[in-house]
Amino acid sequence: VTAPDLAGRHVVVSAGGTREPLDPVRYLGNRSSGKQGYALAKAAAARGARVTLVEANTGLPDPAGVDVVHVGTAVQLREAVLKAAADADAVVMAAAVADFRPAAYATGKIKKTDDGGAPTVELVRNPDILAEIAADRALPGQVVVGFAAETDDVLANGRAKLARKGCDLLVVNEVGERKTFGSEENEAVVLAADGTETPVPYGPKEALAETVWDLVLPRLREPSA
Ligand code: PMT
Repeated sequence: VTAPDLAGRHVVVSAGGTREPLDPVRYLGNRSSGKQGYALAKAAAARGARVTLVEANTGLPDPAGVDVVHVGTAVQLREAVLKAAADADAVVMAAAVADFRPAAYATGKIKKTDDGGAPTVELVRNPDILAEIAADRALPGQVVVGFAAETDDVLANGRAKLARKGCDLLVVNEVGERKTFGSEENEAVVLAADGTETPVPYGPKEALAETVWDLVLPRLREPSA
């Protein structure tokens, strides 16, 4: 039996990967399956929290007892997360959010031309949702957690990202064959703004989810009376 140690809390979790449309049939996307974010949402619900899950393009069934908001793009994800974060005790950004989107959307399917050429796609920056939430907390003491999927210099990049994003915790997971994107397993180091680093050994995404909430718990503000 799980202890209801998140009872009375509202937590927001983002999951999945945003898709940035180029035309009615194509998009820029990424390999996030949403499994890690869903594991976080289910774990928080089992621990008694009211959970808002903002999901992008996972195709996963809505978990029981969780409020699910379905979005497609980074801009839509930002809107939904900011709205839900207004009264949240904690926000956990497990989604893989596109850093860039096509500058223009073609309303008709982009066609091949007879000259053998290929179009150039111009990109513009998407908003950095995590940095925005961390810098401008909707409630004092709101706990903000980011994820970072890195391919090299994993810990050094993670430490720099924690400082840059200004979040309380950053879950650094290395991109690999049997972990991170798409798989059932993950392996991570959770970096905290206070300098503590918690390694989480290779195992099911559910185990990492529990460790994240274990680390969020002591950082939550005093519950309102
Ligand atoms: O979905 P799964 O298949 O289970 O895989 C899980 C996962 C690999 C997607 C997840 O564990 C993970 O690492 N998520 C973050 C992926 C990532 O590459 O993040 P990032 O380094 O681009 O971004 C860092 C943080 O900033 C993330 O918390 C991200 O949600 C956030 N971000 C990023 C860009 C942006 N424009 N806005 C953001 O808020």
